[in-house]
Amino acid sequence: MIELRSDNAAGVAPEILAAVQAANTGSALAYGGDDLTAQLHDVVRSVFDHPTARAFPVTSGTAANSLGLSALTPPWGAVLCHPTAHIMTSEGGATSLFGGGAVMQGVAGEDALVDPDALRATLGAVRWGDPHESQPSVLSLTLPSDLGTAYRPEQVAELAGIARERGLRVHVDGARLANAVAAHGCAPADMTWRAGVDVLSLGATKNGALSAEAIVVFDEEIADQLVYRTKRSGHVTSKMRFQSAQLTAYLTDGLWLRMAQSSNRRMAELVAALEAVDGIELVERVDVNMAWVDLPAAAIDALERVGEVVFYRMGATRIRLVTSWETTAEDVSEAGRRFAQAVAEAS
Ligand SMILES: Cc1ncc(COP(=O)(O)O)c(C=O)c1O
Repeated sequence: MIELRSDNAAGVAPEILAAVQAANTGSALAYGGDDLTAQLHDVVRSVFDHPTARAFPVTSGTAANSLGLSALTPPWGAVLCHPTAHIMTSEGGATSLFGGGAVMQGVAGEDALVDPDALRATLGAVRWGDPHESQPSVLSLTLPSDLGTAYRPEQVAELAGIARERGLRVHVDGARLANAVAAHGCAPADMTWRAGVDVLSLGATKNGALSAEAIVVFDEEIADQLVYRTKRSGHVTSKMRFQSAQLTAYLTDGLWLRMAQSSNRRMAELVAALEAVDGIELVERVDVNMAWVDLPAAAIDALERVGEVVFYRMGATRIRLVTSWETTAEDVSEAGRRFAQAVAEAS
């Protein structure tokens, strides 16, 4: 079976499993009081080139987003994000739960990216100080977006600048941040705090970790709050050292970027194969390891019946394809061949 449903479906990278194994010697202080968690802070500071950044390991991307955002908004706040953002469409309102009732508000833009003029217009139309209206408090950018497009650092900086002029804080949902950093070849700092980002959800599970994610905080006051917020939501795990060991291995010697480069490359190869087929259309440009694709319903039906290439169907004629660190060149060439054959047989 060729797995193209999600990078979440992939396994754990051997280097990360080895780090868990290596951490499994002797005993260590629980709840993050261990040396491996201390080391994680150092590694995060070095990779993000920030002297005081702090990392809070959590067990899911939803937890990272909702807890990070809860520390940035009052209960009467509005979190502005693109209408396709995972926090708005796919997290069951977790941000509103942990944010004490804060709401999410969509700001449009092409390619699933927030448009600077739309953001200015949204902020310009707010009745600031009127308790009848939720008060925009955070801009959350999904990087890369849920459609596989990725802001460049200068776009993040522009949007963060507009938000900051109105006193908003800035959050990045980086469930696949490694793929965006690898695609743009930029410094992680340029994509985040140097562009004005306060809090980052650092994805790792989709890119080879075992239920290990982190909230990375570039502001000490917010970090102080997260000590309590992570505990109250049940994310200060007693054996945190095993999450910290994974995240440290992930960020050490560029492993996270090598794995992301591989999944990006596999997707680029697959896209090249699909683009050569009459009857297959890309819905969005493809910056990272995700593509949304239109093809005849009969071709999708046939591929689903055979079940040897698996993907998510997003509509009658639309599918989503995602490669992972585990996807091979053979996987994508075979997938390309099968897509071409299914389309030929359907027409
Ligand atoms: C962009 C994005 N953000 C956040 C998440 C949430 O991660 P989790 O499913 O671990 O809660 C996902 C998961 O698919 C995602 O795609």
